[in-house]
Amino acid sequence: MSQTAKRDSDTKRTAYRAQLLTFKGDPAREQDAAVFDEDGVLIVEDGRVVAAGAYSALSGQITPDTQVQDRRDKVIVPGFIDTHIHYPQTDMIASPAPGLLPWLETYTFPTERRFSDPEYAADTANFFCDELLASGTTTALVYCTVHKGSADALFTASEARNMRMIAGKVLMDRNCPEFLRDTAQSGYDDSAELIERWHNRGRQLYALTPRFAPTSTEAQLEACGVLAREHPDVFIQSHVAENVDEVKWVAELFPGHRSYLDIYDHYGLLRSRAVYGHCIHLDAEDRKRMAQTNTVASHCPTSNFFLGSGLFDFEKADEAGVPIALATDVGGGTSFSMLQTMNEAHKVARLSGFHLTATRMFWLATAGAAKALNLDDKIGTLAPQSEADFIVLDPSATPLLKRRTSRVQSLEELLFAFALLGDDRAIFETYAAGQRVHQRDEKRERFAAQASSTALTSPCKPRAAS
Ligand code: GUN
Ligand code: ZN
Repeated sequence: MSQTAKRDSDTKRTAYRAQLLTFKGDPAREQDAAVFDEDGVLIVEDGRVVAAGAYSALSGQITPDTQVQDRRDKVIVPGFIDTHIHYPQTDMIASPAPGLLPWLETYTFPTERRFSDPEYAADTANFFCDELLASGTTTALVYCTVHKGSADALFTASEARNMRMIAGKVLMDRNCPEFLRDTAQSGYDDSAELIERWHNRGRQLYALTPRFAPTSTEAQLEACGVLAREHPDVFIQSHVAENVDEVKWVAELFPGHRSYLDIYDHYGLLRSRAVYGHCIHLDAEDRKRMAQTNTVASHCPTSNFFLGSGLFDFEKADEAGVPIALATDVGGGTSFSMLQTMNEAHKVARLSGFHLTATRMFWLATAGAAKALNLDDKIGTLAPQSEADFIVLDPSATPLLKRRTSRVQSLEELLFAFALLGDDRAIFETYAAGQRVHQRDEKRERFAAQASSTALTSPCKPRAAS
């Protein structure tokens, strides 16, 4: 659908009567930051929130022409925001390797090669966007591949669903296979062209995407810094200090820098709307610099466990004032679900003796991420005038979740049960700009019908283990 096309139902006023959760601030820093209405109503019109709050206070705004949807046995929360994910790695999620660098060589680069084919890119981008929505994620900060067309494919799929999406073509001009290389000049030109085409077109936003320091020459990082200065409101995304071997390699490639993060700093790539994945092997000076420049640390716990990269020190980053957000990092990450990401983030924090509450994690995945990305006037809450991106969580999604949630004594316990036991099964519906873009049970039925019709014709053929 084009960005300007309007559906009839875009303009219709709809009221969703449900349990409602939204945030006024960071629950770790402000009292009453989490606002929960057990009998609440969310009123949406023309793709935006009109009002959200107690049903008793807002029922007067439910005009006779308002369509009322009864979700009283469900919980509505703002759509999740995933701040670091690779769409081209969808087909290689759960590929085994002994750590980051061999995983990149063995699986990632050969898979990303396929995105020179626009049809393959479009097919993957469509599947990827549907998988995000099925997981309750309405906004993501997405890595494409080095191919310009891979970014076109992702934005096209996202625009068709009217999702607020941030993405960029990867910049990579060394230390990777020849077939995945651009140059400092072509990377600059392609990125500038994509910014022109997609940044602020409807709900689409662009991110400059140098993959990580080892795969860019100094000339390429310099060119990226120039683009960043020319476009002060575009996003920047990269990886930093994920893995011990990577950190050693970076020190060899860039002698003379105080730290890995300092390389990005040198090229003007730390600032508001700059987001760095992992941030595990940082020191106090690095954290201070991230806080000073308002640069975001994107914590990717399922990936860090899977690749054995290390443990993000949430408490130290938080104390230093670094803006923190959560992310899946699929396909290094092992799940599209931000609920499963919270589950693992809680455990990472536990290992260092820090208690990361579920209420804080829901904030981190919604309003906190929106604030970190400087998008808090648009997404992440149910505040009036916000873009109506929201999800309907089902406390009875599985027998175990139902049993546990029926016994909870507080909001924290309810959210903790969703985070620890939930996944895409708990996402009953997802709405983007007021339109329903995912319905769990319909999707299950469609999948079951397709699976039974293909079961006889396409048996799974595993390759022999080497
Ligand atoms: N570092 C450079 N590229 C990647 C990637 O694709 N995934 C992860 N997890 N780390 C990286
Ligand atoms: Zn990554």
